[in-house]
Amino acid sequence: MRFLISLVMLLPLCAQPPQEGQKKGPPPMKNLKVLKPEEVLPAMRSFTIALGVNCNFCHVQGDRASDANPKKDIARMMIAMAHDINSKFPDSAGKVYVTCYTCHRGKTEPETAPPPAQ
Ligand code: HEC
Ligand code: HEC
Repeated sequence: MRFLISLVMLLPLCAQPPQEGQKKGPPPMKNLKVLKPEEVLPAMRSFTIALGVNCNFCHVQGDRASDANPKKDIARMMIAMAHDINSKFPDSAGKVYVTCYTCHRGKTEPETAPPPAQ
């Protein structure tokens, strides 16, 4: 999985023909409303692990900047919600207590009750 992710991330770099005076690096992010550019890829990797999904659970195949997949906007609301929860801890000063994984635990829909006793 990790190998696959790095491969996917490298593809756009390889696809670009070398150009004079062009800065090296990944293409600029086109549609960020919540995250800073440098936060995007680490966040994306953590989302896939936290929810147990692949990139296309939230993205349209072939266009990561598109908002056509409604899960992407749900994820934006979840980022804001998690941020809000963290800011309400008594000693919050920038600390992260609650992440996507805290609730999701590898599932798209978090459980609200423990599994029945066996
Ligand atoms: C749980 C949903 C979710 C998953 C899974 C997810 N993403 Fe995202 N992705 C988002 C959201 C939300 C944004 C927009 C963030 C913002 O508005 O600041 C985004 C933005 C991006 C962007 C920036 C696009 C642009 O040009 O604006 C890239 C690139 C990206 N994701 C790549 C990935 C990759 C690669 C994966 C798989 C490893 C992935 N995403 C998995 C929700 C997700
Ligand atoms: C406080 C608990 C909590 C946290 C933290 C949380 N979520 Fe959620 N999330 C939920 C619950 C509960 C649902 C199911 C209810 C719903 O779909 O509205 C859900 C649903 C979702 C869905 C829709 C799933 C589907 O099948 O449609 C996405 C996408 C999602 N969360 C992304 C995220 C991401 C990304 C993060 C971290 C930034 C996150 N969530 C953090 C509780 C949480």
